[in-house]
Amino acid sequence: MKRIVLGVSAGIAAYKAALLLRLFKEAGHHVDVIPTIASLQFVGAATWEALSGNPVHTSVFEAVDTVNHVRLGQEADLVVIAPATADVLARAAAGMANDLLTGTLLATGAPVVMAPAMHTEMWEHPATVANVATLRSRGVHIIEPAVGRLTGKDSGAGRLPDPEEIFAAVSRYLEDEATSRSSGPGPLAGKIVAISAGGTREPLDPVRYLGNRSSGRQGIALAKAALAAGATVRFIAAHMDLPAPEGVELSTASTARQLQGAVTEAARGADVLIMSAAVADFRPAEYVDAKIKKSDDHADPVITLVRNPDILAMLIAQRAAEGRSGDLPPLVVGFAAETGDAEAGVLEYGAAKLARKGCEMLVVNEVGENLTFGTDENTVTILFADGAQPVHASGSKDLVAATVIDAVAGALGDG
Ligand code: CTP
Repeated sequence: MKRIVLGVSAGIAAYKAALLLRLFKEAGHHVDVIPTIASLQFVGAATWEALSGNPVHTSVFEAVDTVNHVRLGQEADLVVIAPATADVLARAAAGMANDLLTGTLLATGAPVVMAPAMHTEMWEHPATVANVATLRSRGVHIIEPAVGRLTGKDSGAGRLPDPEEIFAAVSRYLEDEATSRSSGPGPLAGKIVAISAGGTREPLDPVRYLGNRSSGRQGIALAKAALAAGATVRFIAAHMDLPAPEGVELSTASTARQLQGAVTEAARGADVLIMSAAVADFRPAEYVDAKIKKSDDHADPVITLVRNPDILAMLIAQRAAEGRSGDLPPLVVGFAAETGDAEAGVLEYGAAKLARKGCEMLVVNEVGENLTFGTDENTVTILFADGAQPVHASGSKDLVAATVIDAVAGALGDG
């Protein structure tokens, strides 16, 4: 299953996009439709919502709380615009972001396929020719319009190909992309990278647990960056807000102790372990089989906590114990969520944690109410146990992930 954003712009051929949407859905894909406002003159939002099963918006000012253009752009595996009018080609080429569709185009790192449709004169106009060339130079895949009957009496190049043809072209394109990704040499080709992600949950009774605010976004971004670098990725998912990325070898865990088992298994034989999961340091000492009720006791309940294993520290101790004959990864990357306080700053705490945990690299990030957890942005400093210069990265979690994976590739290359 892929997450596809289907952009629809204002051409008479917009109705063909409804059939294309059905083909995507029948193939099992999740589709979010983003029509331009003008295209609603041809096909209304109700059609898109009913056929896709998802809400439909045209402006960045709708569903503002979800920051739709960023979310849709970042979550997408593929953006398809059909029909793409001369106007949308021009706005995309200029990098404009004056509606949800063009905003999403700027926010996505996913491949983009456009199927232009317009009158022959507009298609052949030097402005459109230049815009198409610009888009192609940026990697946008443009499906050549068909030659045939256009709106009205005229005919020529500019007709939107039939939905089946667009569907076939998109499927071929996805296959080519996958092949070039898996066969591409990439800095981590032939390497196995184990990545833990998300937050653990420690059950208290059948309905309650102690959890944390980790969304898994950074771990997902790391997995995508490692895949893009050619690695085989073993992904150990605790609780996450989003599905695990495609193309990974997936295992799941709920509690810290389950995660410890899953991480150890995935780490064996791997070249790198990246521990981005937020692991609960403590769990309730006792799990109560039936829901704890108010009526059980009139006193305020007291929850006693006991320590969870420190997965990272134990794995590193285990690696040392096994010595040269062992198969635990030579490169272990920890994550440190730090807030800093009056006594020491975020980086000082990070340096102390790097020494304490004994890992080779530590990605230190500042956390707080509105920082890091559940957001798309992150600011980190990567510290190295061998004393190499720290590396800073600030921006989207994708950018941070690419920087961490670069550092990992560098460290493996040096080793
Ligand atoms: N970690 C782990 N097992 C735990 C707790 C943390 O493996 N029980 C890992 C995390 O995945 C992360 C790193 O250790 O890679 C640091 O986690 P963090 O919670 O920031 O640090 P703690 O060791 O828990 O230290 P403290 O809470 O004292 O800051």
